Amino acid sequence: MSIIESVLNETRVFLPSNEFAKKANIPNIERYHALCAEAEQDFQGFWAKQAKEQILWHQPFTQILDDRTPPFYKWFGDGELNVSYNCLDRHLSTQANKVAIIFESDDGEVIRCSYRELHQHVCQFANALKLQNIKKGDRVIIYMPMRIEAVVAMQACARIGAIHSVVFGGFSAKSLHERIVDAKAAAIITADEQVRGGKHNALKATVDEAMSMGDTESVKRVVVYRRTGAQVSFEAPRDVWWHEIIRDVSTQCEPEWINAEHPLFTLYTSGSTGKPKGVQHSSAGYLLGTKVSMQWIFDYQPTDIFWCTADVGWITGHSYVCYGPLAMGATQVIFEGIPTYPNAGRFWEIIQKHKVTTFYTAPTAIRSLIKLGADLPAQYDLSSLRLLGSVGEPINPEAWMWFYEKVGQSRCPIVDTWWQTETGCHMIAPMPGAVGLKPGSCTFPLPGIFASVVDEAGHDVENGKGGFLVIKKPFPSQIRTLWGDTERFKKTYFPEEIGHGNYYLAGDSAYCDCDGYFWIMGRIDDVLNVSGHRLGTMEIESALVAHPLVAEAAVVGKPHEIKGEAVVAFVVLKGQYPHEKEADEITNVLREWVAKEIGPIAKPEEIRFGENLPKTRSGKIMRRLLRTLAKGEEITQDISTLENPAILEQLKNPAQ
Ligand code: WTA
Repeated sequence: MSIIESVLNETRVFLPSNEFAKKANIPNIERYHALCAEAEQDFQGFWAKQAKEQILWHQPFTQILDDRTPPFYKWFGDGELNVSYNCLDRHLSTQANKVAIIFESDDGEVIRCSYRELHQHVCQFANALKLQNIKKGDRVIIYMPMRIEAVVAMQACARIGAIHSVVFGGFSAKSLHERIVDAKAAAIITADEQVRGGKHNALKATVDEAMSMGDTESVKRVVVYRRTGAQVSFEAPRDVWWHEIIRDVSTQCEPEWINAEHPLFTLYTSGSTGKPKGVQHSSAGYLLGTKVSMQWIFDYQPTDIFWCTADVGWITGHSYVCYGPLAMGATQVIFEGIPTYPNAGRFWEIIQKHKVTTFYTAPTAIRSLIKLGADLPAQYDLSSLRLLGSVGEPINPEAWMWFYEKVGQSRCPIVDTWWQTETGCHMIAPMPGAVGLKPGSCTFPLPGIFASVVDEAGHDVENGKGGFLVIKKPFPSQIRTLWGDTERFKKTYFPEEIGHGNYYLAGDSAYCDCDGYFWIMGRIDDVLNVSGHRLGTMEIESALVAHPLVAEAAVVGKPHEIKGEAVVAFVVLKGQYPHEKEADEITNVLREWVAKEIGPIAKPEEIRFGENLPKTRSGKIMRRLLRTLAKGEEITQDISTLENPAILEQLKNPAQ
């Protein structure tokens, strides 16, 4: 693979105000450098010290890093703890009455839940799960709306040592089924319906459909939370109501003390094959990562009102809704709805109403809010804000500037946080009291994170040159393996070719500028980033080819103003090349089909039909040509190896 030349050129630097820096956990760049130096000198000692300070251990660890069988690293391997205990019980003696969650429902109802109450809910539900015979090590699929109960379900699993696997509520029955089967789940926790933007989504019916697809015998229980009271079908004794199984159940529950390496959860994410990967995280290392990043990057202060807008179906909702903020004893906002309902001022209204101090969202949300009302933030009192954050994809400098000026009123630093499902917590992100910001750059690695940009041979490239983003040393919050597929884990993340299998390969390309700032350039594999969500092109292709009309399909991304990237599918039909009207109809059919196969987020933005796809003489689809076509650009690449150049003309036009 050739080295990718960097293209951006951003020279502005935004320093934190003195006032912000003065109060910050890491108040200056010297302090950041000192932490980095400490980690460089003895990275194991550095993490051990953090782990002792940050985590309440039931059984303290004596081993730090076990690297005898790389890349299967273990951290704090003989320690014992409970993650839920670290998120809830530890706060009861100091701040039981502090609000843990300010919940706002889709229609504006507000529920406040203190640490004491949340602890009681979690203990009670944990006991109920035990009574339903769910045990330590069992996999539990959570397919829930964004409500307090989603957090309760996750924390209750953590409390009893069950391994949760949250599936985003927007995924289809087929995607849900795939995850249930792969995890061999013992139970599913769901709701009758989900409500977002006034629309109801029948979660239980989707679970029923998934359960009817076969190979789901492992599932002994489906626990249903009543959100709307909609009629749902019930299959006894498999299905039980949440409110019934907690009735008369104790609100005290001794946590299960588990090993530091016991899997806290798996979370499925897209890769470069058709099959999603079950990313497996540890308990202690993961918890540690979420905690240190809350302090370093979100500069957590006890008076903060923290709001991360991510759904618990994604890693961001795991680390910065369910675990990080609770581990810190923070007050956080959880919002059930969408940014544009009932109007495009909803986010700003929530910030104003709940006096949010720290607001963490995705560039795609920012871009859509600019489009719907660039001047709207000015109509709200956003003076409570002190820090903004961005995650999921590179933030374009224009969106960054708007966020900074219009939302943060040029007062709040923006932490652009680069990380992944696999890394568990922030990896490259600014410490906001210490680091000058450049719009579009995620700045510098966290202390103890040895990130670097390398070439195909694993050698560092010079500043200004693009290459592969790697992390050279193990770190506590990293992925432990892929559920049930250790080979794929090794091959994907620790390939022999780069750094002899010793480097964690992120799958992104990046470069460092002359000041050493990191700039993320995008994925190097067949993964698209649509509205901050990872979608495998192979997954979408398999879905398309599964339709009876489709003979062949190739999926690529193209830049999109709001979504960052959009899905473009090139399709060869089994029958005749379609006429204009026919093409429109089939496009609709296939878009709906993909929504049903994977979920609405994977729907192609555009479908182009051809009698064939551009292929090399050996039959390999030339995707780079398709990418150029999708962008609407002229093909200037070498097409001499192309078997059927005439096909390019046909695929050029979106509409026939
Ligand atoms: C991309 C989300 C640029 C990147 C936490 C990564 C980013 C993938 C950023 C992981 C950022 C995430 N700047 N790109 N600040 N944050 N990405 O697993 O391509 O859903 O590999 O984790 O999103 O997506 P995932």
